[in-house]
Amino acid sequence: MADKDDIDFTYSLTDRVFRLSLGELADFSGAKYDGDFSMSLEDAQRRKHEYVAEQIGIGPGRRVLDLGCGWGPLLNFIRTRGGEGVGVTLSWAQEAACRRHGLDVHLQDARQVDRDTFGPFDAVASLGAFEHFCSPDEYEAGRQEEIYRGIFARVAGLLPPGGRFYLQTMVFGRNMIPLEQVDVHAPRDSDAWYLALLGRQFPGSWLPADMNQVVRCAQPGLRLVSSSNGRLDYIQTITEWGKRTGARSFRKSLLKLRLVPRWLTSPDFRLAFTSGVSANKVCFERELLDHHRLVFEKTG
Ligand SMILES: C[S@@+](CC[C@H](N)C(=O)[O-])C[C@H]1O[C@@H](n2cnc3c(N)ncnc32)[C@H](O)[C@@H]1O
Repeated sequence: MADKDDIDFTYSLTDRVFRLSLGELADFSGAKYDGDFSMSLEDAQRRKHEYVAEQIGIGPGRRVLDLGCGWGPLLNFIRTRGGEGVGVTLSWAQEAACRRHGLDVHLQDARQVDRDTFGPFDAVASLGAFEHFCSPDEYEAGRQEEIYRGIFARVAGLLPPGGRFYLQTMVFGRNMIPLEQVDVHAPRDSDAWYLALLGRQFPGSWLPADMNQVVRCAQPGLRLVSSSNGRLDYIQTITEWGKRTGARSFRKSLLKLRLVPRWLTSPDFRLAFTSGVSANKVCFERELLDHHRLVFEKTG
């Protein structure tokens, strides 16, 4: 999996720039436009929260776990609905930001949460974190499915019979190339180059092959209730993020200045954050990546 250093590289280094651009309780996963791109990003993120609430049951007295909670947008929504949310992240900066907003968030590996960690839950959600749960090394060692099965088994162990798990995740798309072809020295703009760039932005992370692999690993404890594809919605989400992160502000410029030493000393940082392209967006457009919203229910 992506370890703490990997996650800090992606989320803690740029934490203040992200929060300034996208908001204190920013969603950092694909929104739910359902193809209606006249909606604002904020409305589409709210629609996503409402959809999650409908699917897994978020409301007064309901105890919900958010695995990989980011800056706490879903936890905040759960609070406004009268529920009790508990979140985990591996980013110290996200944990601190969430706690400043009074959210119950812990620096804890999501892959290891079981009943002994925080007790049982009525429902579990995980948006945009599953992508980090298997590393390229673990993939190459043939451990990917064992890792996913372990996570699903632990989630099932947290839920009552009929309890639901909402999982939103990227997977590789139908045009994905073999790992050994991914190369930062490949010609700029090639699939191999964009995927290498993505690997620099999200070190330690390797995606599921496709949705079927995820659904298969969830069995026998969790059965798929519904699924929807979020690829085009994710492209729109990234376009809107780009507008907000690109918008100039004095405070943001100051924060970016503080990152200059890192920029000077780290080729990975330069590639990941200042290459001037959105690798994620291009990979979705080329169907090197795909995206799914999956609702599971505990069997038995
Ligand atoms: C793309 S962000 C999504 C955040 C949030 N769910 C949202 O929708 O805005 C990915 C999150 O997964 C978390 N994460 C990744 N691997 C993790 C792990 N093994 N344990 C806990 N959190 C993890 C990161 O710290 C980050 O908060």
